[in-house]
Amino acid sequence: MPAEKTPVEDLAEDQAAAELAQLAAEIAHHDERYHGHDAPEISDADYDGLKRRNEAVEARFPQLVRDDSPSRRVGAAPLPTFAQITHSRPMLSLDNTFSDEDVRDFVGSVYRFLGQLPDGSIAFTAEPKIDGLSMSIRYEKGRLVHAATRGDGTTGENVTENIKTIKEIPNRLPADVPEVVEVRGEVYMTKSDFLALNEKMAADGKQTYVNPRNTAAGSLRQLDPKVTASRNLKFFAYAWGEMSELPADTQMGMVERFKEWGFPVNPLMKRLFSVEEVISHYNEIGLKRPDLDYEIDGVVYKVDRLDLQQRLGFRSRSPRWATAHKFPAEQAFTHVERIDIQVGRTGALTPVARLTPITVGGVVVTNATLHNEDYIKGIGNSGERIRAEEHDIRVGDTVIVQRAGDVIPQVLDVVIEKRPHDAVAYEFPKKCPVCGSHAVRERNEKTGKLDSVTRCTGGFVCRAQAIEHLKHFVSRTAFDIEGLGAKQIDFFFENEDPSLQVRTAPDIFTLQRRQESSPLTKLENIEGFGRVSVRKLFEAIGERRSIALHRLIYALGIRHVGETTAKLLARHYGSYNAFAEAMREAADAAGEAWSDLNSIEGIGEIVARAIVEFFKEPRNGAVIARLLEEVTPQDAEAVAASSSPVAGKTVVFTGSLEKFTRDEAKARAESLGAKVAGSVSKKTDYVVAGPGAGSKLDKARELGVEVMDEDEWLVLIGG
Ligand code: IVH
Repeated sequence: MPAEKTPVEDLAEDQAAAELAQLAAEIAHHDERYHGHDAPEISDADYDGLKRRNEAVEARFPQLVRDDSPSRRVGAAPLPTFAQITHSRPMLSLDNTFSDEDVRDFVGSVYRFLGQLPDGSIAFTAEPKIDGLSMSIRYEKGRLVHAATRGDGTTGENVTENIKTIKEIPNRLPADVPEVVEVRGEVYMTKSDFLALNEKMAADGKQTYVNPRNTAAGSLRQLDPKVTASRNLKFFAYAWGEMSELPADTQMGMVERFKEWGFPVNPLMKRLFSVEEVISHYNEIGLKRPDLDYEIDGVVYKVDRLDLQQRLGFRSRSPRWATAHKFPAEQAFTHVERIDIQVGRTGALTPVARLTPITVGGVVVTNATLHNEDYIKGIGNSGERIRAEEHDIRVGDTVIVQRAGDVIPQVLDVVIEKRPHDAVAYEFPKKCPVCGSHAVRERNEKTGKLDSVTRCTGGFVCRAQAIEHLKHFVSRTAFDIEGLGAKQIDFFFENEDPSLQVRTAPDIFTLQRRQESSPLTKLENIEGFGRVSVRKLFEAIGERRSIALHRLIYALGIRHVGETTAKLLARHYGSYNAFAEAMREAADAAGEAWSDLNSIEGIGEIVARAIVEFFKEPRNGAVIARLLEEVTPQDAEAVAASSSPVAGKTVVFTGSLEKFTRDEAKARAESLGAKVAGSVSKKTDYVVAGPGAGSKLDKARELGVEVMDEDEWLVLIGG
């Protein structure tokens, strides 16, 4: 414990000045620890104590308030800043499978995509899924040039100096390696090192860490390489990015090369053929799991042959040639103390169980999502029973809570024997708890069934929806406005002063003008802001007046349009105007624009429909029009490698194909930057016609569109 501090009223001015300087540094340090995704070093109560002391000293000596005082800082301290590195090849994630059935489906889909009978001829590798931090390490002429975290998959953080301190990662490779080598794998901390570190932290009276994964992440994502070096991080190599030359033609072969080059590789990796063998290896690894000195959360299966991996290619986020078979999640018992309703950006009313805090798999859980009305009753999304009839979730119930990896904790089941006599069934609200509008469950047009989600019908009227939308708009992957986080949005949204109010996204960009022309209150005079931070805030807003197209599309908050879909749309349409115009035209479900939208790989009908609906709503149009008076979206970069002769061209496949399945042909064309459409029009560049082609071929001839057979197509795209 620190020594007792001098009471504030006894401080001399010079002592006070020295203490304020010390507090500013100390609080900044803890902010960084906290917000840098690492575990904090002190408890929340101790942190609040420091802030209160700072305020008390400042209250007595207002003349000593420092420019960098914690009381003047808006929101969180910035993350430690690492330079960004754009990955030469995106770092993808993996699809998850949870059951033997899912594994069978995965293997089946590989054979189907390749147009082969499932005859057990395709080899798969199976290896542990390490619960660490993925890393891409680049070598040029055998020397380590940089290392980057996964980040959003496209760009990551440059953590080269920290990575160089990891003993297991070579800084130099043998002389005969290809000129460019990018080795990818997982940085992790062993369970034993994690426990030893926590013992030491506890002995020093410091806050302990949550789990090895977060500790490894925190040890890397901080700016001092000495800290990384002291943490004894480890590494397993299992994948690669850019390679000027491939030193093997199988997954197994590649990993063997990595081993020869000095990288640690996982000893439990095996090459297998049948689904049965794969599942039995999964079970074997599961049995070994408690004895391994590193955390794993499943087994990864990959198609072994690299030429097949190449043919299988990728979906938007993950490869078709790999999947992660996850281990069952960890569970614990606790009580439901309360059920609250949260209203999200799209008006969904989500019930949340407030739980008596409980540790599940090493993490303290206090909340669990209850998803929707049916889930509380024990009914799943397709109307099936997920719990026994009387096992509805009630306040006061003892429940089984499950947590899997980073997924939000779930309430699995109720221990009915422990239900208190006076527990009553939960009644789902019929009105939005925020705005009082009716809350309804829509009927699905196709199935005629009730939707599982209850939605507030208040739309723009509902404060919760409006605020959540703004928070989404300024979030890191959308407009990413520094100094404008959730806390500040709450402040501006609720403000009654017209020169300070922000109710819709365009208001953010008119704030400075309103402040300069007719301020009732000056922002800099408001507690928590101050002159410097206001200037920085306006600068940060100004910087976003030019914005990448995909960020703008994502920020609009269209239902089902996440970051990945936004990127697909930006790349496909190129400019905002082209996108918006196409979406308006796509309202005609018989037209070309609708089929073009649906032809984008990774965009299905539900997503397509949501986008079109969004653009049909005149109020959305009005807000966007105001927004576009303030910000300029940059055009997206041209699709894929411009060296590809089919980049930007529209292709239609018709008739039967012999060398590819239809899915494969489409995926391959799209990976080369072509658009694949379902029908022939004036905009079609090529029609690839196989035997049995009919009306589409006729139409192509009629319109004078270039027609070719499969072999000619292969020649065109280079084999
Ligand atoms: S392969 C294109 N193999 O899991 C596929 N990933 O959920 C590249 N991970 O981001 C990944 N162990 O951080 C692969 N043996 C393993 C892995 C592994 C852990 C992580 C990796 C990835 C995440 C996907």
